Amino acid sequence: MRITITAIKADVGSIGGHLTPSKALLERISEAVNEGGKGLVIDHFIGHTGDDIAILLTHDRGSGDEQIHRLAWDAFRAGTDTAKEQGLYGAGQDLLRDAFSGNVRGMGPAVAELTFDERPTEPFLMFTADKTEPGAYNLPLYLAFTDPMYNAGLILSPTVGQGFTFTVMDVEYVEGDRVIELSTPEEIYDLAALLRDNGRFVVESIRSRATGEQAVSSCTTRLRNIAGKYVGKDDPIMLVRTQKSFPATGEVLAPFQLGHLVAGFMRGSHVGPLMPVKAGTGVSFFDGPPIVSCLAFSLREGKLTEPCDVFDHPYWDWVRSNVARKASDIRAQGFSGAAMLPYADLEYGGITERMGRLEDRFTIR
Ligand code: F6R
Ligand code: MG
Ligand code: MG
Repeated sequence: MRITITAIKADVGSIGGHLTPSKALLERISEAVNEGGKGLVIDHFIGHTGDDIAILLTHDRGSGDEQIHRLAWDAFRAGTDTAKEQGLYGAGQDLLRDAFSGNVRGMGPAVAELTFDERPTEPFLMFTADKTEPGAYNLPLYLAFTDPMYNAGLILSPTVGQGFTFTVMDVEYVEGDRVIELSTPEEIYDLAALLRDNGRFVVESIRSRATGEQAVSSCTTRLRNIAGKYVGKDDPIMLVRTQKSFPATGEVLAPFQLGHLVAGFMRGSHVGPLMPVKAGTGVSFFDGPPIVSCLAFSLREGKLTEPCDVFDHPYWDWVRSNVARKASDIRAQGFSGAAMLPYADLEYGGITERMGRLEDRFTIR
């Protein structure tokens, strides 16, 4: 059976700052998807990470379907009404266009979609991150799909061992989708040369070379490119099919124990470690740290099982403690050097005005 899984994520308002959505907001979105999805979707799930709500839809209408995207858009619009009624902070923040125009791509929400012939058993993961950017998934994907230090299947499985093809997007290019395909293992150094720059080059998809099947779909939205100014970080969503000719679930998760340093955190303008958290976790310390949660599902004829919250496990409690220490270490140096993003990546315009004022006061001796 040919199935599409569509995951769409947006921040349409939260309690007490950019922390976490309200119960009423989540309920309103749930109602809207329940009502609007009748006869359209096979199944759905709604969750949140930090201040972002993720809508997961399964259906047989293919990727980029107008009615599916409209369903999510209308649900976020309905949620925005509730957010306004409750006085939530940043109501409707990520809905950057007034009218729906066929597809939520380019309108604010983050999208990841996979269409495939459902395997007899179809395990997949939905990653949702807050207070960071789409390139935050670059390193974990690189390690999980190309490095035998993280993915034992590259050595042990004849199909995984055939490698993968990455499609990488240059998200700074705004005239269209500027993409490149690179095959691993042959081209891992070229891939690394691109993926080192998380702000510019982002993994869009990964396919198995053994079967041609797509394993990964990751969002490549840059809100700044859409709005022309800072309106919040891009808080990425990603879908990953696992097992058999794809990496095992545990291999995909393994690199998240690094808590690698990513862009985001307070005011989208700092560097902090990406902390793997339980689903439904908000943000707190310095509007962060950057967080990622991951739910595993199985699928049968488009019907979802209940989710398994993979970072809700004693192992990840230990990781969280380590990552919290790493967050404190970098925060201890405040605005200095590597702790704050380079000038061009600062997400607030205030510093431009300040630098402009100081410019006039410089003298040449
Ligand atoms: C980062 C984020 C927050 C806000 C910060 C200030 O992505 O959402 O850190 O940037 O709370 O928010 P405003 O400018 O709305 O007061
Ligand atoms: Mg926000
Ligand atoms: Mg957010």
